[in-house]
Amino acid sequence: MAAQLPRRICCIGAGYVGGPTMAVIADRCPQIDVTVVDLNAERIALWNHDDLSRLPVYEPGLDAVVARCRGRNLHFSTAVEEAIAAADMVFLSVNTPTKTRGLGAGQASDLKWIEASARTVAKAARGHTIVVEKSTLPVRTAEAVKAILGCAEPGQSFAVLSNPEFLAEGTAVADLEAPDRVLIGGEDPEAIEALAAIYAHWVPQQRILRTNIWSSELGKLAANAFLAQRVSSINSIAAFCEASGADVNEVARAIGSDSRIGPKFLKAGPGFGGSCFQKDILNLVYLCRHYGLQEVAGYWEQVVSLNSWQQHRIARLVVQRLFGTVTGKRLVLLGFAFKADTNDTRASPAIQIARDLIEEGAHLQILDPKVSPAQIEADLGQPPGQGEASWAPCASLEQGATGADALLLLTEWQQFSRIDWAATAALMRRPAWLFDARGSADQQAARAAGLNVWRVGEG
Ligand code: UDX
Ligand code: ADP
Repeated sequence: MAAQLPRRICCIGAGYVGGPTMAVIADRCPQIDVTVVDLNAERIALWNHDDLSRLPVYEPGLDAVVARCRGRNLHFSTAVEEAIAAADMVFLSVNTPTKTRGLGAGQASDLKWIEASARTVAKAARGHTIVVEKSTLPVRTAEAVKAILGCAEPGQSFAVLSNPEFLAEGTAVADLEAPDRVLIGGEDPEAIEALAAIYAHWVPQQRILRTNIWSSELGKLAANAFLAQRVSSINSIAAFCEASGADVNEVARAIGSDSRIGPKFLKAGPGFGGSCFQKDILNLVYLCRHYGLQEVAGYWEQVVSLNSWQQHRIARLVVQRLFGTVTGKRLVLLGFAFKADTNDTRASPAIQIARDLIEEGAHLQILDPKVSPAQIEADLGQPPGQGEASWAPCASLEQGATGADALLLLTEWQQFSRIDWAATAALMRRPAWLFDARGSADQQAARAAGLNVWRVGEG
């Protein structure tokens, strides 16, 4: 079947997923006109800003892609209905956070933004429209989307596809340009082939997987659950290494050399963060309970419990090493983003660790090259301050480290692996500590500079 390539695409949601995904599609398919819409006018203004360093999403290489396509076949706009009306394919790429209240609070995904955007599509679309679920959604959400679209006016028709995103933040552009696989779930062969034809511009056919719609939705949840499980597994072994005298890096090498296991995703750390892992597992847990699968739910729930435990454990051991109290002590957090090369702090382990230490009375100096003080304030739920039980942004490592008792390396930013330890240690109050929760600092140099060093997973 010769697939009909869409001429105009609209993407609802200009966030971490919608923005980079559409930029790469526009870049690779110059004949398709792509419009990304969002209700958030401030966000759209930043996507349209002349200064590309101010794009609302920081991703290496994204500025260059946007520079090539914006104004040519890539547009950012708040005119949501207009863009939907003009499009023959609409991507739903809105946020789906965990519900904070009501039925399923703390576990189920809040689908209010998906529902609202589906209603807008039902109202504004013209003729035949392919609707693509891009957001991570609970299994069988497509059914709800279809039901809403089913109430459309005569003259409108819809096909619904699931096309989950597997990009990781910090490598979004590279992941989009060379994906391991693209997953397309659906029932309508013409719609499936139309979407596949877009990706076929740059993705080899054998990497474009077609499945039924529920398998596609579950494929995303299960992939994230497996990845998160690996992180909790290695973190559990890290704790055991610390207790028993083994070294988690050596154990990870031993495990990862088994080709059935593989070497990736075996780095011990402060626990996983990011917008997907916890949300998707909790979602899976909720759905398993819904289907009466208590044991399966309990199995996956443990991956999240271990992750929270790891964060509390790190805060606790910092307090213990600092003579059992951090009240009034100055501690520097190196990094606040949930991983390097992103400005995203959603579910960042740094948030829980910072809260625990503030609760213990510490004064935190927080240094992150990409996260704004306003974001840290929102995450910690308190404005910057001085004295006991407070935090402040720090302009430089020198400023933060002066008079500090400890540094906690929480995000593996490149620049933190190049710290001049002799100069930094000289500014600190003795005995001074480095707590390396990422295992990415030059600990030999830190030790040589007179610091006490704790490294995750080192017995
Ligand atoms: C993840 C999935 O990788 C991606 O496919 C999906 O689409 C969205 O969720 P992301 O959350 O951006 O992507 O980041 P990822 O690189 O997967 O890391 C998640 C968390 O696990 C981070 O906090 C990271 O620091 C942590 N991690 C990862 C480890 O602690 N150790 C590892 O070995 C790998
Ligand atoms: P993700 O990481 O899934 O991309 P984000 O929160 O970064 O999530 O982005 C989702 C975007 O979707 C936000 O910018 C939000 O304003 C936008 N959005 C949510 N609901 C709607 C809607 N009904 N119409 C248009 N935009 C929406």
